[in-house]
Amino acid sequence: MTETALVTGASRGIGLETVRRFLHNSENITNVVMFARPSEDFDAAVEELRASSPVGRRIITRTVDVGDRDALHAALESVYAEVGSIDHLINNAGYTNPVPLQQAEIEDFEKTMAVNVYAPFLIVKWLLNQGNTFKLIVNIASTAGINGRSGWLTYSASKAAVINMSQVMREELAIYGTRVVCLSPGRTATALRRTLAPEEDPTTIMQPEHVARVIETFTSPVGRFIDSENIVVRQ
Ligand SMILES: NC(=O)c1ccc[n+]([C@@H]2O[C@H](COP(=O)([O-])OP(=O)(O)OC[C@H]3O[C@@H](n4cnc5c(N)ncnc54)[C@H](OP(=O)(O)O)[C@@H]3O)[C@@H](O)[C@H]2O)c1
Repeated sequence: MTETALVTGASRGIGLETVRRFLHNSENITNVVMFARPSEDFDAAVEELRASSPVGRRIITRTVDVGDRDALHAALESVYAEVGSIDHLINNAGYTNPVPLQQAEIEDFEKTMAVNVYAPFLIVKWLLNQGNTFKLIVNIASTAGINGRSGWLTYSASKAAVINMSQVMREELAIYGTRVVCLSPGRTATALRRTLAPEEDPTTIMQPEHVARVIETFTSPVGRFIDSENIVVRQ
């Protein structure tokens, strides 16, 4: 069976580990599409994955700012023309700029919403309108979207929106047999976490590989993961 997965925010952290997991461990996913903005890190990650992946796995990349609607649509159009269907969509790209409420700028709030909320919506909507039926959509929210955190107003608000948007997607896409899972990880040792908590020792918290393992579980029709202290699952 040949299935295709699209992972946004694939240049590092949870997204990169998810791609690695799909390439090395998935029985059914043979094509992986990686979205991230252009960077040396992204180039290096792709090169390393191409060198280490098992034979028969295909890596397709697009450098795109998912917060830029025109660029996002162009990337989706070209990738869809190339692969023909997206079976598994992992809406993982995330942005945050933690500041106290008085310093939060509306432009930054808009950027946060564009990357964290509007991009997943636009990707799902655009692909549905092409006739694509997903087997699985995983939207990455955050425990900060369940209980807002002081200093993280824009991020917390965006992730709360992701949780509720996922609920609606789950109900509306059930008729297509699409499984919609919303994962709210707690503290995970990535660059984004370092932005939020620069003093924290990353070895004391959850590693991105663990979140990637949980995401991969859902690509199997019978895969289930039970809520844990570290990752809250809505499915
Ligand atoms: N780490 C945690 O503690 C934690 C907890 C709960 C939820 N999460 C969520 O997990 C997801 C992954 O984050 P992470 O922790 O793995 O952080 P990360 O290592 O900083 O990775 C974030 C990814 O998002 C991409 N991204 C950011 N802005 C983008 C944009 N405008 N266009 C395209 N890609 C963009 C980045 O790619 P480029 O910058 O290379 O474009 C990068 O690949 C996010 O949704 C985050 O909110 C993280």
